[in-house]
Order: sequence, then structure tokens, then C-alpha cells
Amino acid sequence: MRGGGPGSGTSRVALRRCPLFVLLLGAPGSGKGTQGKILAERLGLRKITTGDILRAAVRDGTPLGRQAKKYMDDGKLVPDSVILGLIKEELANPDAQEGAIFDGFPRTAAQAELVDTTLGEHGQRLNRILLLDVPEEELLRRLTARAAQEGRSDDTPAAIQTRLQVYQRDTAPLVAHYAERGIVHRVPGSGPVDAIATEIQRDRKSTRLNSSHSQISYAVFCLKKKKRKKVHGHVALS
Ligand code: AP5
Repeated sequence: MRGGGPGSGTSRVALRRCPLFVLLLGAPGSGKGTQGKILAERLGLRKITTGDILRAAVRDGTPLGRQAKKYMDDGKLVPDSVILGLIKEELANPDAQEGAIFDGFPRTAAQAELVDTTLGEHGQRLNRILLLDVPEEELLRRLTARAAQEGRSDDTPAAIQTRLQVYQRDTAPLVAHYAERGIVHRVPGSGPVDAIATEIQRDRKSTRLNSSHSQISYAVFCLKKKKRKKVHGHVALS
């Protein structure tokens, strides 16, 4: 087949050159960090984890860490006025231009808007939302076990309750926002880590096969973008 049709050389090359942005969404303890690490390694992409960045800032006693610590220890979200700048900075990092796995953001409507706008400015977009679905008893079991093993300062019973409530109030509504775009995949998040990773891998493969139309539209979009860049004498995408 010629001319960029399904399976053609042109569309395959374009698909490879299209940055891939995947968001792991789920309640505290649902396995975003665990599965995000595996996926990032498989895809050779950077994982951006706002929780890890904030914990490092707290550890290092930076101004960001000093601002964030009290909110984190209480299980509350760090305010958007503090976090939006951090997200913008992370998205501007050259390493993120080829795609990334987002773990722990966006978490509010304002963060989702910032991510959409910032990716859009670079001709990019969120391609897939993996929603890890885990019953609350299992979340509590995992976080309580981690509290005993690692002593994370927000794994106290009171902070865990607040984190679960904040997730339902501020972050769960984002699912509807992304579902309208047809990019949400619900992943059963209980059971062995490897089995969940396999399900995520299966979704990736079937998405590629089943949504060939939108994948090809995106590929054509990327090719056009690449041509525009050449016309303007800039370095081409790749
Ligand atoms: P963050 O670090 O993002 O914490 P969280 O959302 O509460 O999530 P966790 O890290 O607890 O869980 P996870 O879903 O990543 O699961 P994990 O793989 O670790 O945020 C912490 C705080 O930072 C927030 O409360 C907020 O204050 C602040 N913050 C961060 N981002 C922010 C933002 N964008 N805006 C504002 N504030 C922000 O697994 C959990 C445990 O379960 C581990 O022990 C793991 O080994 C175990 N486990 C994983 N999978 C399995 C499995 N299949 N079976 C058994 N155990 C498992």
C-alpha cells in the first residue's frame, strides 16, 4: 500500500516520530508509580512524577519543599499556585519533547488545562489515560503496609483518609473530561504487579490495532508539522 495508508512505511515512520504522552490516573496506592516505572522502561520514555519531585524538594529543604511540606503531610494537594509552575517547567524539559509518562499530574481541572494548553502549543496532546481501578480496602492495605515498611510521612491513617477524599473530590472528575476524547482505558489494578503490567501492554497493542483511524490522523498531523518545520528552516521532528 502506498501514500500513508494503514501499515504503510510512511505511517509507520510518522507514528514512531509522534511523541507519546500517557497519564496514569488512580487513587493513592493504586499503583501509578509502580506501573509507571515499568511502562516508562518498556517505552523508553521519561516518567514525570510530581510526588517524587516534591518529596525531593522537601528532603533538600528548597523553597518549593518548604511550601509543599505541610500540605503533603496533611494529605492535601499542594496548591495550584505552587504546582503549575513546576508542571510547566517539567513539560518544557527537552527530555519530555519525545513523550513522557505522567504520574501524579494533572490532578485538578487547572492542571489539566495547563497540560492540554502546553502540549497543544508544541502540537502535542495526551494520547492515553490509564485509569488504575483498585477497591478502597486494597488501597488501605497497601498504604498501611508501606507505612510500616517505609514510614512515608503522608501514609498516616489521617493523611490517607484525606488523600482518598481529595482524590474523589478533585482528581476523579478528570476522568469524565478525558473520557469525552475516548482516550481513557480502565485497568483492573488489583492482583500481581506483572499481570497488571501485561494488561497495560495489551491495551497498548490493541489500541494501535483498533484505533488505526485516529492513529493515522495523528501520524498525518505529525508529518504535516514536520514539513511546516522544514519550510520554516527549523530542525525537523524526530
Ligand atoms: P503522590 O506521590 O503522587 O502520591 P499518591 O497519589 O498518594 O500515590 P502513591 O504514591 O501513594 O501511590 P501510587 O498510586 O503511585 O502507587 P504505588 O505504585 O506507589 O503524591 C503525594 C503528595 O504530593 C500528594 O498528596 C500531594 O500533597 C502532593 N502532590 C503530588 N502531585 C501533586 C500535584 N500534581 N498537585 C498537587 N499536589 C501534588 O504503590 C503504592 C504501594 O502499593 C507501594 O508500596 C507498592 O509497592 C504497592 N503496590 C503497587 N502495586 C501493587 C500490587 N499490584 N499489589 C500489591 N501491592 C502493590
